[in-house]
Amino acid sequence: MTLRKYNWAILGCGKIAGKFSSDLKLLENAQLYATASRSIDKSKSFAEKHGFQKAFGSYEEMAADPAVDIVYIATPHSLHHDHAILCMKAGKAVLVEKAFALTAAETMEMIKTARENNTFMMEAFWTRFQPSLAKVKEVLASGILGKPAGMRSEFCFHAPLNPEGRLYNLALGGGSLLDIGIYPVFWAQQVFGVPSDIKAIVDLAPTGVDRTMAMTFGYPGGEFAQLTSSLAGCSDTQTEIWCEKGFIRVRKIDPWTVKVTVSVKEVSEDDFIFHQENGFGLFLEAQHVMECLDAGLSESPSLPFSFTLQQMQLLDRIREIAGIRYPTESD
Ligand SMILES: NC(=O)c1ccc[n+]([C@@H]2O[C@H](COP(=O)([O-])OP(=O)(O)OC[C@H]3O[C@@H](n4cnc5c(N)ncnc54)[C@H](OP(=O)(O)O)[C@@H]3O)[C@@H](O)[C@H]2O)c1
Repeated sequence: MTLRKYNWAILGCGKIAGKFSSDLKLLENAQLYATASRSIDKSKSFAEKHGFQKAFGSYEEMAADPAVDIVYIATPHSLHHDHAILCMKAGKAVLVEKAFALTAAETMEMIKTARENNTFMMEAFWTRFQPSLAKVKEVLASGILGKPAGMRSEFCFHAPLNPEGRLYNLALGGGSLLDIGIYPVFWAQQVFGVPSDIKAIVDLAPTGVDRTMAMTFGYPGGEFAQLTSSLAGCSDTQTEIWCEKGFIRVRKIDPWTVKVTVSVKEVSEDDFIFHQENGFGLFLEAQHVMECLDAGLSESPSLPFSFTLQQMQLLDRIREIAGIRYPTESD
């Protein structure tokens, strides 16, 4: 069967857009069609570097090009809402980087636009499509470890204070929670669903963003999750799920390798290594988008709107407890 080919466009030629573009080249049915940047020179040099056919000097011009099928939105979180809506109103499918938006309210407007325009939309939550996550789900579902009772998950690295950069700029949705805390929150959502209780301790940077966020989630069955994100110091980027008969540990060994350890207390301990031979692992989400479009879907069954909305509602709740508001949020 001949694969349908899709014309991809990149909106915002920054760091992650570079990695995503090089991963797109691994997919037979992805055509590197257009780049869009606020600067035409930047757009042209990004297009040349990665082999895109066209370069636009504005996001609006790119969205108006009828040949564009799918747009990868790779601007700071605070702009995802406007940029995704711009593209969906022009009839494009969109893959929107995490954090999906600044707030759940923005997320609901994006979902409404997707439905009104009958366009495909998905959060670019790349870890959802990693084989290591599939392994963890398979082990939990097998019952070999019994019921999960608790977990911890963290994602921390040191980002020097730079008030101009996206990470420390409140107006751009800066802070550790939306940038990297979203990964531990995602793990907790995968294992336990929605918490009934949330505690959060925050360390604010001088710019008002959360430099460190330490969270504890409680669940109706007594389960709990300890989650941390920080821009202050480096961590092991590890997730552990504690179950009745043993534990699972997920550890990133290097940017391309994840080790999943499954330990059945006093019986066995097995390591499963998931090594990415090619690319950054982002091509899996891109491939999934095209599979959904091939099937005529406007929502991904693996990462539905309901999951993304639930995640954004959780992030809202955590920020409310920690007392963090973005300048665009009304009272
Ligand atoms: N999935 C992942 O593993 C992963 C990793 C890193 C980041 N991300 C997400 O991807 C998004 C972008 O992150 P990044 O690290 O690539 O950021 P970045 O390098 O700063 O790039 C963001 C791009 O957005 C555009 N932009 C438009 N308006 C802007 C403004 N007012 N200020 C700054 N940039 C503006 C710029 O592109 P032009 O100048 O070309 O218009 C800029 O290059 C974030 O939402 C982040 O959470 C995901």
